[in-house]
Amino acid sequence: MFFPSYRPRRVRKNKQIRRMVRENRLSVDNLIYPLFVIHGKKVKKEIPSMPGNFQLSVENLVREARTVHKLGIPAVILFGIPKKKDAVGSGAYDDHGVIQTAVRALKDKIPDLIVITDVCLCEYTDHGHCGIVEKGEILNDPTLELLAREAVSHARAGADIVAPSDMMDGRVGAIREALDEEGFDDTPILSYAVKYASGFYGPFRDAAESTPGFGDRASHQMDPANTREAMREAEMDISEGADMLMVKPALPYLDIIYRIREEFDLPVAAYNVSGEFSMIKAAAKKGWLDEERVMMESLISIRRAGADMILTYWAKDAAKVLRK
Ligand code: PBG
Repeated sequence: MFFPSYRPRRVRKNKQIRRMVRENRLSVDNLIYPLFVIHGKKVKKEIPSMPGNFQLSVENLVREARTVHKLGIPAVILFGIPKKKDAVGSGAYDDHGVIQTAVRALKDKIPDLIVITDVCLCEYTDHGHCGIVEKGEILNDPTLELLAREAVSHARAGADIVAPSDMMDGRVGAIREALDEEGFDDTPILSYAVKYASGFYGPFRDAAESTPGFGDRASHQMDPANTREAMREAEMDISEGADMLMVKPALPYLDIIYRIREEFDLPVAAYNVSGEFSMIKAAAKKGWLDEERVMMESLISIRRAGADMILTYWAKDAAKVLRK
């Protein structure tokens, strides 16, 4: 194996040979595109910190989803910005809420496109927290019931997959039970099993208008310093009935994606979050980085770590590059 008998450069000599020995691939099949739906009509408002991403009212959402579908991207994940927010996030489980309306429209117009819904209360509560708040504390068990209602309401509207992102203990089990009871035993749960309390969600909170009014999410999202705890979270969600596991964010947590992939056999998704996207966009705008190149390098690194699916704001751009 030593020089000069082994020369690794022999198989890097040209494009064709590099193609033959390539170990990991990114395909359009791996991509999931996040979309933000807002109440109202004819809204298409660019999110300043996420260039190329918009808050869209339903008819514009359908148009955008058509483009996504035509590019061959199999799925979108929806986040909702309701008209009214209140202390218990009523908009989240309203059968005529913004997400429910959007899901019905999408499944009607583009039945082939997989629609995943984010199940959380933070976009619907006036305090911006992911659950019911009492004396400044986010209550776990009373929140479970609302999350279960939200998931059932999404499934009733036609959601193909529900994705709880709240990080309350026991929510996968509560959602599974409620879905089964209502006859949605066929609806899979993509669990945000391993979600860290991350600063990289900054731009998203502008987009979804979900910044907490006080405090932070450290009492339910994971401490960035922990690895073993991620394994326990994943194990727990599997035992409660998760069909797919997600790790979030992606790039600063490639080691976690790798370990989850090694230890569990369920499909693994990684969320290449808003901050990961925006910082590269900003650097590219300044001419400091080549956006297409670092986008593809970032996405293949997430595949190399072991993710099957990647939720990314670059899904459309990456699909276009892959098509070339
Ligand atoms: C919560 C949720 C968040 C993101 C996805 N779902 C924000 C949070 O936990 O504060 C972040 C996604 C991103 O940054 O791109 N509903």
